[in-house]
Amino acid sequence: MSSKLWSGRFTKSTHRWVEEFNASIAFDQVLAEVDIQGSLAHVAMLGKCGILSSDEVAQIEQGLKQILAKVREGRCVFTIEQEDIHMNIEKMLTDEIGPVGGKLHTGRSRNDQVALDMHLYIRMQTVELVRLIHELHGVLLKQASQQIDVILPGYTHLQRAQPVRFSHHLLAYASMFERDMERLIDSYKRVNLCPLGAGAIAGTTFPIDREWVAERLGFDGIYDNSMDAVSDRDYLLEFLSIASIIMVHLSRLAEELILWSSEEFNFVELDDAFCTGSSMMPQKKNPDIPELIRGKSGRVFGHLIGLLTTLKALPLTYNKDLQEDKEGVFDTITTLTGCLKLMAPILETMKVNARRMRQSAEQGFANATDLADYLVERGLPFRQAHEVVGRMVLHCIREGKGLADCTLSECQSFSPLIGEDVYERLGCEQVVEARRSAGGTAKEQVLSTLSQKKEKHDNI
Ligand code: ARG
Repeated sequence: MSSKLWSGRFTKSTHRWVEEFNASIAFDQVLAEVDIQGSLAHVAMLGKCGILSSDEVAQIEQGLKQILAKVREGRCVFTIEQEDIHMNIEKMLTDEIGPVGGKLHTGRSRNDQVALDMHLYIRMQTVELVRLIHELHGVLLKQASQQIDVILPGYTHLQRAQPVRFSHHLLAYASMFERDMERLIDSYKRVNLCPLGAGAIAGTTFPIDREWVAERLGFDGIYDNSMDAVSDRDYLLEFLSIASIIMVHLSRLAEELILWSSEEFNFVELDDAFCTGSSMMPQKKNPDIPELIRGKSGRVFGHLIGLLTTLKALPLTYNKDLQEDKEGVFDTITTLTGCLKLMAPILETMKVNARRMRQSAEQGFANATDLADYLVERGLPFRQAHEVVGRMVLHCIREGKGLADCTLSECQSFSPLIGEDVYERLGCEQVVEARRSAGGTAKEQVLSTLSQKKEKHDNI
């Protein structure tokens, strides 16, 4: 018969295919350290509550610490026969210290144990992700302060709309990543609840102290319902949702880098360290890394939909379906961490072609709104001003020139309200500087936003 930890009720061993199909050890071994951390707290509580003797606790603690050292040195051999990380470690423990190891699981089930492990793991990853986004945020702020005088076209519909400071454009991303950090920090309070002590579903007959374990593990509190504790995966859904939103932001930024580094835009040059060549075309320098960041967003969204689907209509409480929560979450962490780690140095090392950006901002009638605003200041209703300038633009397109290239009499043939002073309004710099409204692209506004963001950055 098999050496399964639950074999008592069985008369046959598990079919070889079932063993493989059922096992999660291939992916849940990343939980090894948090699993041991949780067990150390649990056994200490069993001792403190008089459920185990201090000698038993000492033996179990010593055994667990030996296994922890082995895990850290990568010396543990896990087997699918022991199915998952929890049973692999428990088996190692009894192999190491004998039958007393079997007392560790007193008052505990794998259902509350796995929930505990995932809470500990996500809590740790949340902190690390905030740190990585914070770093990226710092790079955006640094670039924004260095590029304050660089002007490029702002786009709507990917058509040149109005010129903006490059800093302004970069700070829009800084705002997105600030919200992402806030979302992660806010989610922490829901992650940081301890499910241990819920047992398999209904609690335990032993006089355990849930609050004590929770506090020892650094949790803010305990789940107030044992059934919710073992079946709740909301915190994973929330984690995947936040991760998806972060990937949306990263993919939009990646897409802009891809566009900007194309010959057609030529706004930035990405550092060679983040590009690759073509096996056939010798001239190519491809933005593979931003492309992968853009592409990898899809798999993270997929993991969110996957878990939503797994959880939909799942009856209370623990069902083995819940084991399916792990791979998507772990892959999301790996993917997101990789993308964040790369995006920061890509932005830090890119070369900005300020001359080309400016040239582009000066073409394409990005100053047309300003000419309409000029007419409005002289009393023309905005709708009429819009029409007048629209006709002037059409005229200029036919003539192959910009608005500022029209002579005064040419301008006046469209509207007698136009005077010599119009030319002071049409340059890129003036157009940008005219937008002094709060949150606008004028230098004083951008600098003030930048300093608020720096303060925020230092306080996260
Ligand atoms: N490997 C399992 C999981 O990831 C652990 C919990 C198993 N519990 C059970 N009753 N079979 O969900």
